[in-house]
Amino acid sequence: MEIEKIKAFREKIRVPGDKSISHRALLVAAQAPGLSCLCGLSDSEDVKATRQCLRQVGIAIEDEARTTCVLGKGLPHWHEPEAALSCENSGTTMRLLAGLLAGSAMRATLVGDASLSNRPMQRIVGPLTLMGGQIQAMTDKGRPPLMVTGGKLKGCDHRLPIASAQVKSALLLAGLSATGVTRIWEKHPTRDHTERMLRAFGCNIDFSPGYAEVQGGQTLRPFHFQTPGDISGAAFFLVLAAVTPGAELVVENVGLNPTRTGVLDVLRAMGASLTCTVHRTEPEPVGSIHVSGGHLRGFRVGGADIPRLIDELPILAVAAALATGRTEVRDAAELRVKESDRITALLTELRQMGARCQELPDGFTIEGGRLSGALVNSHGDHRLAMSLAVAGCSAEGITLLRGAECVAVSYRGFFTTLESLVKAGEALYA
Ligand code: S3P
Repeated sequence: MEIEKIKAFREKIRVPGDKSISHRALLVAAQAPGLSCLCGLSDSEDVKATRQCLRQVGIAIEDEARTTCVLGKGLPHWHEPEAALSCENSGTTMRLLAGLLAGSAMRATLVGDASLSNRPMQRIVGPLTLMGGQIQAMTDKGRPPLMVTGGKLKGCDHRLPIASAQVKSALLLAGLSATGVTRIWEKHPTRDHTERMLRAFGCNIDFSPGYAEVQGGQTLRPFHFQTPGDISGAAFFLVLAAVTPGAELVVENVGLNPTRTGVLDVLRAMGASLTCTVHRTEPEPVGSIHVSGGHLRGFRVGGADIPRLIDELPILAVAAALATGRTEVRDAAELRVKESDRITALLTELRQMGARCQELPDGFTIEGGRLSGALVNSHGDHRLAMSLAVAGCSAEGITLLRGAECVAVSYRGFFTTLESLVKAGEALYA
C-alpha cells in the first residue's frame, strides 16, 4: 500500500458498528430464548469469528440487509460443537466464549491464529477455576488452545489484578449460569458493554464504575438492538483530522460510552478543537463528534485513564510524533500482550519514519516533531496497520505500508473511508 501526504479535507463520515459491542450483542442474544434483531453489527473478521463459533453450537444467525437476526436459546439447549471453535485473531471471542461455555453442559476446544495462540489465558482460567469451572490452557505459560468442559459453577467474589474488560465479561457470563451471586471489583474501571448488554436483554445486573454483580440462574429476554459506530475505528480519522491544519471532520452515529472516550480527552488535552453531541444514552451512549485540524502538543497519560483508551494508544502515539513537545505513556504494559507487542512493534516502525521515541517497560516516551515517508510493516496487527496509514498521510514523502490487509480484523472499509478523505482534500484544492 502506497500512501502520500493528505490535503486538508472537510467531510462527514460514519464508521462500522462497534466491534466490542457487536461480540456482546451476539453472545447475549444467543442465550436469550427467541428472536433478537441486531442492527448495524461490525462486519469485521473478529465478529465473524464469534458468529461462526455460535453457529457451531447450534445458534441460527441470518442477515437481512443491515439487520442480523439471532434465534437464541438457553445455554442448556446449545449443541456440543463437532469441531474446535476457531476464534481466529479475536481475544474477545475466545475469552468471553470460554466464560460462557464454562457453565454449559458441553465440551469445547477453542483455538486461535498464531497471534491469539500467543496471548495469555491464565487471567480467565484462574478465576473460572475458582468458580468450579473445568478449563485448561493446552500449552505452557497458559496460552491457547483452551479446553472447556462445561459443568456446575458457583458464584464467587473476584478482585481483578489486571484491568481487563474481557476477563470481567468472561466472569459475568459465567456468573449468569452459576448458583448464587458473582461479584467483580476492578483495579481501574473498564468498558461496561457486557453489563449494559445484559441489562438490555432483561438481566437484573448491578454495576457502577469498577464494580459489577450478577445473580445466577436468570433467563434473558430477546431484544432489538442498534449498534453504535466504533469509536476505536473513528479514532484513526479523528487523529488524522486533528493533525491536519485546516481539516474539518464530523463522525456521525458513534459510540460515546465514557469507558471508551479517553481518546477524546487526550486529543482535547493536546489542544485539538473537538466537540461531541450526544443523541441518545441507552442502552449505549451514541452521538456525533466534530474535530478541526491544527497544531497539537504532547501529553502524559497513565493509571485509571489507560483502560479508557488502551486500543487508541497506537494512533495517539502517531499524534504524539507529530505534536510539539514530549509525550509520556505509563501503566500500559498490557499493550505488550495485544495482537502484537504494540510498544516494541509500533516504536520500531515510527522510528523508521524519523520519530524520536523510547520504550519503557510499561509504555513509551515520544519527542514530537515531523514524520518522513518510509517502508513500514503492520506486524499483522490491524491497529498498527491503520495507525501507520494515518502516519503516512501526515508524513513528508511516500510511505509504503506492508501487511495492510489485516485492517479487516476490525475495520474492513478503512481504506475506502481514507480514500474518500483523500478525494475530499483534493476536491477542495482543485
Ligand atoms: C476488549 C477489551 C480490551 C481491548 C480489546 C477489546 C473487549 O482488552 O483491548 O480490544 O471487547 O472487551 P482487555 O480486556 O484485554 O483489556
